[in-house]
Amino acid sequence: METIQILDKKFDIYINNDQIKNKIIDLAKVIDNDFLDKDPIFLGILNGSFMFAAELFQHLSIKCSISFLKLSSYDGTESSGKMNQLIGINEDIKNRNIVILEDIIDTGNTLKHIVEELEKYDPNEIKIASLLYKPEAYNNLHKIDYYAFSIPNEFIVGYGLDYCGYGRNLKHIYKIK
Ligand code: IMP
Ligand code: MG
Repeated sequence: METIQILDKKFDIYINNDQIKNKIIDLAKVIDNDFLDKDPIFLGILNGSFMFAAELFQHLSIKCSISFLKLSSYDGTESSGKMNQLIGINEDIKNRNIVILEDIIDTGNTLKHIVEELEKYDPNEIKIASLLYKPEAYNNLHKIDYYAFSIPNEFIVGYGLDYCGYGRNLKHIYKIK
């Protein structure tokens, strides 16, 4: 079994690159079918979704576009502390069919915030596609329309996902030891 070390933690291989790619290809076929003639705009959430978004997008054959958004966390002046602003919305998304691309849905707090922000622009619909999904941790506020892998509530890295900023470059997905 392949074990790697990132900073102070050890990780075991969990999902290999071939399995990831095959699942994403399957997902692309489903999305192709569901969004035929809907001209969707895919919105990848940085940083974690970049590998998933790149792989999925290559396998779509419908008319579609893509853009990337980021949650900038900064310390607000209010006592409430941290606020996350969704930055990078340059396209006109009013009346558009949006598919959010996420690396992982854990508690769903990030997703809740992103959906609330996007709804302000009055899109036609917002669907969610995530590479990974932790159902045990999820708040169930929005339907996770598409996911490649449902996983237990354990910390993972690789294929875009990080531990303290490291491990995003790994081609396989690893689980904490
Ligand atoms: P949520 O708001 O709890 O759903 O967390 C979503 C974000 O937390 C993801 O976009 C990741 O950046 C990060 N995250 C959650 N679980 C993991 C994990 O197992 N490994 C790496 N990052 C994670
Ligand atoms: Mg993320």
